[in-house]
Amino acid sequence: MKLTLAVALVVAACAPAADDKDVGRLPEGPGRELAGRICMECHDSGNFRKARLTSEEWSDSVADMVERGAKGTPAEIEAVVQYLAKNFGKGAPVRINTAPFAEIRVVLGFTVAEVRALLEYREKHGALKSFEELLQVPGIDQAKAEAQKSRIRI
Ligand code: HEC
Repeated sequence: MKLTLAVALVVAACAPAADDKDVGRLPEGPGRELAGRICMECHDSGNFRKARLTSEEWSDSVADMVERGAKGTPAEIEAVVQYLAKNFGKGAPVRINTAPFAEIRVVLGFTVAEVRALLEYREKHGALKSFEELLQVPGIDQAKAEAQKSRIRI
């Protein structure tokens, strides 16, 4: 009985949020489907979307994942590296309407409470239409959001 409960808890804790698993939330462009298929098999998109790496660093990171069991042909793996370098390179913006929790938290430095407020707002009202709308989201620190404006894409 105890063991069953423990197993159930572990399974629940490991299940990624459904919306982070959604390939459709990844930035569009060549390699998106492959990245969705190859990189979201073991964890959700937050793991890589919260990172901002150079091409070389992405190449190393993906090689590390291949060692851990990520599967793809060499050409597919290369396409994924290019996709990641293009969309999650140094200074790449955060797409505020599709970014998962970890990306908003880590890249923009929002607090847990602020990210929750934003995700709740997104859930309730759908996609934000402007940067000004972001400033109006209850619970968002306006000064902090303003300071990150150049890194935020609507
Ligand atoms: C076979 C399982 C598996 C696949 C497939 C996989 N990963 Fe991972 N990944 C892991 C594990 C295990 C960790 C470490 C634990 C965690 O953070 O979830 C991890 C962590 C990460 C991290 C955090 C940094 C680190 O080294 O801990 C990044 C970035 C990452 N993965 C990117 C990717 C990318 C990009 C892909 C697609 C090419 C990918 N992963 C595919 C298993 C996998």
